[in-house]
Amino acid sequence: MKKANAVFRLDGKVAVVVGAASGIGRASALALGDSGASVACTDMDAAGAQKVADEITGAGGKAAAFTLDIRKRENIDAVVEGIRSRFQRIDVLVVTPAVNVRKRLLTYTDDEMDRVIDLNLKATLRVTQAVAQRMEDGGSIILTSSIRSVTVEPGQGVYAATKAALVQLARGFAVELASRNIRVNALAPGVVETPLTEPIKKNAEWYSAYANRNRRRWLGRSSSWRQAPAVISPEPYCSSTAAGPGSTAVTNRPYERAFHAARIGGASRGGRDRR
Ligand SMILES: NC(=O)c1ccc[n+]([C@@H]2O[C@H](COP(=O)([O-])OP(=O)(O)OC[C@H]3O[C@@H](n4cnc5c(N)ncnc54)[C@H](O)[C@@H]3O)[C@@H](O)[C@H]2O)c1
Repeated sequence: MKKANAVFRLDGKVAVVVGAASGIGRASALALGDSGASVACTDMDAAGAQKVADEITGAGGKAAAFTLDIRKRENIDAVVEGIRSRFQRIDVLVVTPAVNVRKRLLTYTDDEMDRVIDLNLKATLRVTQAVAQRMEDGGSIILTSSIRSVTVEPGQGVYAATKAALVQLARGFAVELASRNIRVNALAPGVVETPLTEPIKKNAEWYSAYANRNRRRWLGRSSSWRQAPAVISPEPYCSSTAAGPGSTAVTNRPYERAFHAARIGGASRGGRDRR
């Protein structure tokens, strides 16, 4: 196992990663495995989740794969129960799945809006409810928002709206779960090369418009999610006791260590309000 995350060890803890088969979820699962957590790799892509679980166990960590489609309420409780009976406890939840229909608002259809809201908000809420109900007191929940929660471009309006809403959802959970000492944070990544952002990579003009905004001329890479220090490996950071409750970590420029935590007062256990 890597010693990269020696500061933020999670030995003896059990982490559930939703969307573990790809991109940021995959990198998060590997980072949590590196940090000593037992990782339940869940995804609707069963083979992909298994591959990541195998990668963790192959490196000496503890992991198991679970097939889970968070759009289907009827499956979620049974899968989460299965995770608890396999690992005996749940301490950390990371939720990553989202969809983006890139299209200007004036022509957005109801169906497209439903698709984006259903996964990005409703399914995220649903799986967070199910896991939080079964989580140990003192646990940690990390929802994946986006830099789009604070900035928007043409064609990103509905996705951006769900990501902004997700920040408030995280704060709402933080307020309601504070009495159980469960910390809830939202991560707001900048553009990272993953299957979700494949359309950007395929369009040279679009890609360079983003890439030219940083000194290295390429976008964030999900492999950075696995590396120390904590600012570029945010899941172990948020899962440890270092993060403030209800904060949003904007990981817009991971290589330049842009990491801002805007703490809220309401659910805070001593955190300063720096909104
Ligand atoms: N990639 C970026 O540039 C970027 C930037 C900001 C925010 N984000 C956010 O990060 C998160 C992860 O993005 P990514 O780029 O890693 O995506 P990705 O497409 O690489 O991975 C998403 C994973 O979620 C799984 N998934 C999709 N629907 C599911 C469902 N219904 N149930 C269970 N699993 C499901 C997929 O199978 C896939 O493994 C998203 O919330 C996204 O909005 C990404």
